[in-house]
Amino acid sequence: MDKKELEQTLVLLKPDALKNSLTGYLLSQLSEFHSGLHFAGARIVAVNRILAEEHYAEHRGKAFYESLLDYITGRLHWEDEPWKRRVVAIVYQGADAIRKIRDIAGPTNPHVAREDKPGCIRALGTLVPIKDTAGRVISDRMDNLIHASANPADAEREIKLWFTPGDIPPMMHAYETEICDAWHGYADGRLFTQSEPGAICLFAPGDVAWRSDLETLRRLAGGLETAESLNYVAAKYLINDARIR
Ligand code: CDP
Ligand code: MG
Repeated sequence: MDKKELEQTLVLLKPDALKNSLTGYLLSQLSEFHSGLHFAGARIVAVNRILAEEHYAEHRGKAFYESLLDYITGRLHWEDEPWKRRVVAIVYQGADAIRKIRDIAGPTNPHVAREDKPGCIRALGTLVPIKDTAGRVISDRMDNLIHASANPADAEREIKLWFTPGDIPPMMHAYETEICDAWHGYADGRLFTQSEPGAICLFAPGDVAWRSDLETLRRLAGGLETAESLNYVAAKYLINDARIR
């Protein structure tokens, strides 16, 4: 397979897509017949705060940020039924995967989507006003049904955030992996390099990890600066772990 065929992108079927039973429709729109793309990975994820913050790190501090975290963690759509709070996370693979899926998804803002690209997925979304404590509208939250990576750098960051190498068939790995030679654990936002009671195991010797994650952990353990945080590396191993809320 040449490099172009290996292009991958992350898709999230967001909580509003599940709530409105649009998952089948979305998967049809994205199917191999329509998009020419292939499944490389899929997970049902109850999004915790750590994962939500890492996924939307670029939007930290914006007026819609807190509301966006409530949206992606499913709190907004299932206030009283926490067990229903899920997204479907999918890696699609194939030539031009990023552009093709952004195209099928359409513009971020559902109103713009309806105007400029009727028929795209996000044209089925909605805008929800965000108010400050005084009741003034300060921004809009865009419930737009689907996330799709915007460019190759985002796709790599996002796929490695949501998926371990073991979630993707080895022949479909688009990024370098490495076999761990040391134990790494996580508790209360801290990294442990030796077995620690109560710590969640990230990886043990012999496990296959993203090479860039191991490089991040080595630098963190050495007290060096890193582009990504410990939470970024750990998040995919904490998914659906009952100890993390
Ligand atoms: O998802 P996309 O890359 O198209 O857009 P973004 O600008 O990276 O924003 C990420 C997500 O934040 C959007 O998909 C919207 O769900 C949400 N958003 C929002 O709720 N309100 C805004 N004013 C902008 C974005
Ligand atoms: Mg984006």
